[in-house]
Amino acid sequence: MKVLSVVGARPQFVKLAPVADAMAEAGVEHLIVHTGQHYDPQLSDVFFRELAIPAPDEHLGVGSGGHGAQTGAILAAMDGVLERHSPDWVLVYGDTNSTLAAAVSAVKLHVPLAHLEAGLRSFDRRMPEEHNRVLTDHAADLLLAPTEVAMAHLHNEGVGERSVLVGDVMTDVLQRSRGVGTAIEGARDSVIATIHRAENTDDPERLADIVAALASLRAPVVLLAHPRLRDRAARSGIDLRQGSIRVHDPIGYPDLIASLDVAAGVVTDSGGLQKEAFLLRVPCTTVRAQTEWTETVDLGWNVLVEPADLAAAVDRAAPEPTDAAPYGDGRAAARAVAALLDRR
Ligand code: UD1
Repeated sequence: MKVLSVVGARPQFVKLAPVADAMAEAGVEHLIVHTGQHYDPQLSDVFFRELAIPAPDEHLGVGSGGHGAQTGAILAAMDGVLERHSPDWVLVYGDTNSTLAAAVSAVKLHVPLAHLEAGLRSFDRRMPEEHNRVLTDHAADLLLAPTEVAMAHLHNEGVGERSVLVGDVMTDVLQRSRGVGTAIEGARDSVIATIHRAENTDDPERLADIVAALASLRAPVVLLAHPRLRDRAARSGIDLRQGSIRVHDPIGYPDLIASLDVAAGVVTDSGGLQKEAFLLRVPCTTVRAQTEWTETVDLGWNVLVEPADLAAAVDRAAPEPTDAAPYGDGRAAARAVAALLDRR
């Protein structure tokens, strides 16, 4: 069996790591296509190197651009890739423009399509990630769901018979990376913060409110600044270096996990970080109106806030301990590969 994984953005490289290992263990021929959506070494190369992911077999080099231009460039380039390799499956990950473009290209060329991390919903169709994941799920032949909640969404949308609950590969990669990295300077007892989503960065007033709230926190804040955040802050004349905030470049995965392990809290709008905080039992405050990872909120370890309520939320009392494991047992990637083999 030949599987062609298509990835392009930082969170997809993290998910790819355990999948690539499971493919090798199962003796599956596995090709990797990097779309080039993320190209900065600190958003891309560092993950391949530190997570020991095999080098991509194809690199499309599409780079940044508007949604249509970026998605279209990947779609156009994928025709030749699929013709050259004739895979048994195309495997796409998560909810980025790379995910949707590769999904459409597989469907157009009649190559069976599997979607890892299927069934997540924010129910906010204005988010690019939401329409990317809904469209990908409905195009796919095999939906690999991380949670019971995701499975329920897929059943509700009439695609339950194409869906399999495999667990969350983010648990796999976290388990294997814990204890490997080094916490960055200043991480201990700090609040680790990341803000990069369009709905937070692209409205100058909202971004100014978020930065002011972070600056006002009592604990030191280590702000891991995604290029999109730096760019939008600079364009809007917002200084990220205020009050409690110390600005740091984005970091690789093992060092992020080591830093979270010693941190006092997390403030984020990232999906992955909400779960990583939960898995490491670090209280998380999420600057969004909804989350796809509702289990983290229901179990008391994550709170959704507007910028005005951020500081009070970070100061809240410690959550009740829990041993719930809604994100699986660390064997999700092996189950995903088994499902692909089963349905070839
Ligand atoms: C993308 C995903 C988002 C994911 C995030 C992880 C979509 C619609 N969004 O958002 O779901 O959570 O990746 O980081 O696919 N840039 C650089 N260097 C890079 C890449 C981007 O400087 O290597 C800058 C460019 O100014 C670019 C901007 O970041 O315009 C946004 O990049 P883009 O790939 O469009 O989306 P992300 O915001 O990274």
